[in-house]
Amino acid sequence: MPEKLNHFVESQQLTPSIIDYLFKRADELRPGPHTYLQGKILALLFYEPSTRTRMSFETAMSRMGGTYSSTENAEEFSSAVKGESLEDTIRVVSKYANCVVIRHKEEGSAAIAAELSKVPVINAGDGKGQHPTQALLDIYTINKEIGRLNDFKIAMVGDLKKGRTVRSLAYLLGKFKGIEITFVSPEHLRIGNDIKAYLVRHNISFSEEDDLNKVIPKMDIIYMTRTQKERMSEEERKNHEDYEKKGKVFAITTDNFNLVRNDARILHPLPKVDEINLPIETEEKDPRIAYFRQVENGLYIRMALLDMLINSS
Ligand code: CP
Repeated sequence: MPEKLNHFVESQQLTPSIIDYLFKRADELRPGPHTYLQGKILALLFYEPSTRTRMSFETAMSRMGGTYSSTENAEEFSSAVKGESLEDTIRVVSKYANCVVIRHKEEGSAAIAAELSKVPVINAGDGKGQHPTQALLDIYTINKEIGRLNDFKIAMVGDLKKGRTVRSLAYLLGKFKGIEITFVSPEHLRIGNDIKAYLVRHNISFSEEDDLNKVIPKMDIIYMTRTQKERMSEEERKNHEDYEKKGKVFAITTDNFNLVRNDARILHPLPKVDEINLPIETEEKDPRIAYFRQVENGLYIRMALLDMLINSS
């Protein structure tokens, strides 16, 4: 076992030895099912919608021999409706389970939960803050697809202002050497200054661009993201829609897919909307499309993470 992680709230908590351990453990756990978490219970508190994160954690727990208790719309179906605070909910739920996975609309909510919980808390997305298990599965996928986690060029494309997956991934890439990040977005969706300052501190080279087609041929990894319209104010949404009408696109389509090098890979945390628009046959057969393999990798790395957190707590 590597050094102990009590909770997993932000991607910067991952150390090289934890990453190495989790990658190896995820590979071992691929063929299942297992009994490593028999008798253990995972609680999932989701205040925001999810398909992949919630279902992959549920599936991971089942495949490890454990069970789970889940609320998929905690805003409506938990006692939050009656006015119960997040703090009280965590103090209750952590008494039922061996680990709590939480997704919440407020940035910082997972950190609050971790402070109060006696069992490990995993941040499954806190508003526009972080989504660290996504970053973990992203680097697991990058390593599998291009065979290294140092010395590669990555474009992060789309809504970099409110997209928590790019934030977590950028933080995590700060741990590696020889990475060059190109942030590709319209002016109003640029990456935050906090991330830029972090990358400067960690000697990670980065630049900002607004011409996706110019960037694509240079990249090993193209990390696409959707616009987080649900996190925009009415004014932001209107301004964004006005911008979209000008026709400037940040999308991979049949028009620019040929610019992607044969040894490059397209990743996306999903769900995707219109920022990737390719025929299903291309998505199914072209090895440059890695996002459905990325989804599957998420299951195995979450099995490894649950095993590490629960069995060392
Ligand atoms: N990638 C991701 O977090 O997907 P969900 O919102 O479906 O969980």
